Amino acid sequence: MKNTIDKKAKTNYGIMPLIAERWSPVLFSDKQIEEEKLMQVFEAARWAPSSRNEQPWRFIYAHNGTPEFNKMIEALMEGNQDWAKDVPVLVIVLSEKFSSFNGEPMFHYMYDTGAASMQMQLQALELGIYSHTMGGFYAEKTKDLFKIPENLEIVSFVAFGYPTDKINNRPSHLQERDKSPRDRKPLSDIVFKGAF
Ligand SMILES: Cc1cc2nc3c(=O)[nH]c(=O)nc-3n(C[C@H](O)[C@H](O)[C@H](O)COP(=O)(O)O)c2cc1C
Repeated sequence: MKNTIDKKAKTNYGIMPLIAERWSPVLFSDKQIEEEKLMQVFEAARWAPSSRNEQPWRFIYAHNGTPEFNKMIEALMEGNQDWAKDVPVLVIVLSEKFSSFNGEPMFHYMYDTGAASMQMQLQALELGIYSHTMGGFYAEKTKDLFKIPENLEIVSFVAFGYPTDKINNRPSHLQERDKSPRDRKPLSDIVFKGAF
């Protein structure tokens, strides 16, 4: 299934098609995601690099229509609830904060978990599944609803779903969001040869 909206990155240099074609929709198909494919997505996360191979990432997932999914919606900020209530799968991305070797706080735990999260999202797209990361959630509410232990940071929520070819009967503000062009800083603002 191909996304009907073409938001492929307009790049100055050639990049991997998967990276160019990834974008974050708010409108998805209601087709459920097969359990096997979800496991492929988590398997991709599992093989991410991490500082001292600590592998601090943890994931909780839920399918739409389950009580756990409804709890995830409850934990999201209202602007995200608006569209995420209709996505097929939600994932809570968590990260262990303390080293499993010496119990010390880790410096790179968020970095490592971000890398795992990105591997997950690129693997999903390889399987035709789009994703949308959300930082807009209530941390305390998430902790209470899911009984998250103190040693774990709640990093993000991620929505997953197949693309939809039927956006015309969906709310117009969400259609507008998905049709809006993608934008990035120029390479010259972010890359410096040798020094700032
Ligand atoms: C850490 C993080 C938090 C984000 N939080 C939200 C969010 O709460 N709600 C939302 O709609 N999008 C959220 N986004 C999606 C970004 O807005 C989106 O990735 C960015 O605008 C670039 O668009 P693209 O992913 O389509 O290229 C978040 C993305 C990241 C990486």
